Amino acid sequence: MERRSRVSVKNLLAMSEPVTDVCVKGWVRSVRRGKGVAFIALNDGSCFASVQVVLDPQLDNYAAVTKVGTGACLAVVGQMVESPASGQDWELQASKVEIIGQADEDYPLQKKRHSFEYLRSIAHLRPRSNTFGAVFRLRSSLAFAVHKFFQERGFMYVQTPIITANDCEGAGEMFRVTTLDPLNPPRSADQIDWKEDFFGQRTGLTVSGQLQGELFATAFSDIYTFGPTFRAENSNTSRHAAEFWMIEPEIAFADLKDNCRLGEEFLRYVVVYALENCREDLDFFNQRIEKGLIDKLEALAGAEFRTVSYTEAIELLRKSGQNFEFPVEWGHDLQSEHERFLTEQIFNGPVFVTDYPKQIKAFYMRMNDDDKTVAAMDLLVPRVGEIIGGSQREERYDILRRRMADQGIAEDDLDWYLDIRRWGTCPHAGFGLGFERLLMYLTGMENIRDVIPFPRTPGHARF
Ligand code: 4AD
Ligand code: MG
Repeated sequence: MERRSRVSVKNLLAMSEPVTDVCVKGWVRSVRRGKGVAFIALNDGSCFASVQVVLDPQLDNYAAVTKVGTGACLAVVGQMVESPASGQDWELQASKVEIIGQADEDYPLQKKRHSFEYLRSIAHLRPRSNTFGAVFRLRSSLAFAVHKFFQERGFMYVQTPIITANDCEGAGEMFRVTTLDPLNPPRSADQIDWKEDFFGQRTGLTVSGQLQGELFATAFSDIYTFGPTFRAENSNTSRHAAEFWMIEPEIAFADLKDNCRLGEEFLRYVVVYALENCREDLDFFNQRIEKGLIDKLEALAGAEFRTVSYTEAIELLRKSGQNFEFPVEWGHDLQSEHERFLTEQIFNGPVFVTDYPKQIKAFYMRMNDDDKTVAAMDLLVPRVGEIIGGSQREERYDILRRRMADQGIAEDDLDWYLDIRRWGTCPHAGFGLGFERLLMYLTGMENIRDVIPFPRTPGHARF
């Protein structure tokens, strides 16, 4: 076939009048053979819909083309004409078809509907399915929307390191990065001598870019990070991944209220962006994955988010009369059953929970005047639970040092972090939003493994 520029199915279907001599390339979703005519649905991933290719027996290679299997790759030249069939405006009458890549009947994505579990086991092929096509198109658009939101507001995008020596959250969930021989590591005094390691100290994959983000916020005022984050937590839940993407804005001259406002504005912005720019895919999720999804998103776009303190939330949960698996007690972290009850049953929408007990939160959160709670905030949303975690940061040098001492964090490791409080310290705040949790909320998909291209969870890193 002569070289001809390829038109995407998306652009082709958006045309407003018939066109001759166009070329599309894509993968066969279905072949239907009729009397004296055959139809192929061809999809190139540019949009949800496939283009209907009409094949006439006059085609040179009609017999071969009508025998191709689902999944085969084709190039088709022809003319786009109005379709007499219902459910589509246009169809492509083929004048030439080239079989680029054959597919036999072993191709796993045949017509029947497959479970998401099964599709995870063929993660190399699932992007060619309807659901995952929609998920990953939405994911791409949303990543763009994230940058657009912050760039429009003058935030600087900073790439914080992936390899780091600091466990920001202090939860001991870092994956180790080392070049030492695990069978024969250098030792001194019977311990592994990390000084001999590549970086001359113990390092791991980052659990959060926040600490470095704070350094940049105290130079550039408003910054954000958007990158991969790693946690070796062995919790096999539908909302945790060992590798996920996090968006972390950090704002100078801001307190907890400013932080919540930014979180609310941000979430609303990306929801509206999806409604305006990803409608075809959202319609699919609305019909097939979560009924009422679009109504929910439209409601969120107009709603004001509620705020309760942790202490109030505990009271509401205790008064609810609900039987929880885990006890509701002041001083204990909220379990996901509590979070979901708050956002789904009590508030029936997004809710910020603020001012958590100091003993269940990280060392960097700002101490409140009561000396019992810190200026933390989590945003909870229906179905997903915690989608954002953030706080105002402790900007007071002495109080921060005391908090570090209380939690057994060595000052030597974080002297640079403390320095920010010595020279030109200022109130500042920020949060982290899990990109996959956001996508779960926007698509209705119930498992985090189904909104990230190649999920990393305990025991799974094959693809
Ligand atoms: O609440 P987290 O642990 O907060 C931080 O890491 C702060 N340093 C953020 C900051 O203030 N800059 O994580 C933030 C968000 C969570 O609310 C959740 O959406 C997501 O990151 N998250 C995960 N997503 C998927 N898999 C996991 N294992 C996750 N752990 C956290
Ligand atoms: Mg959290």
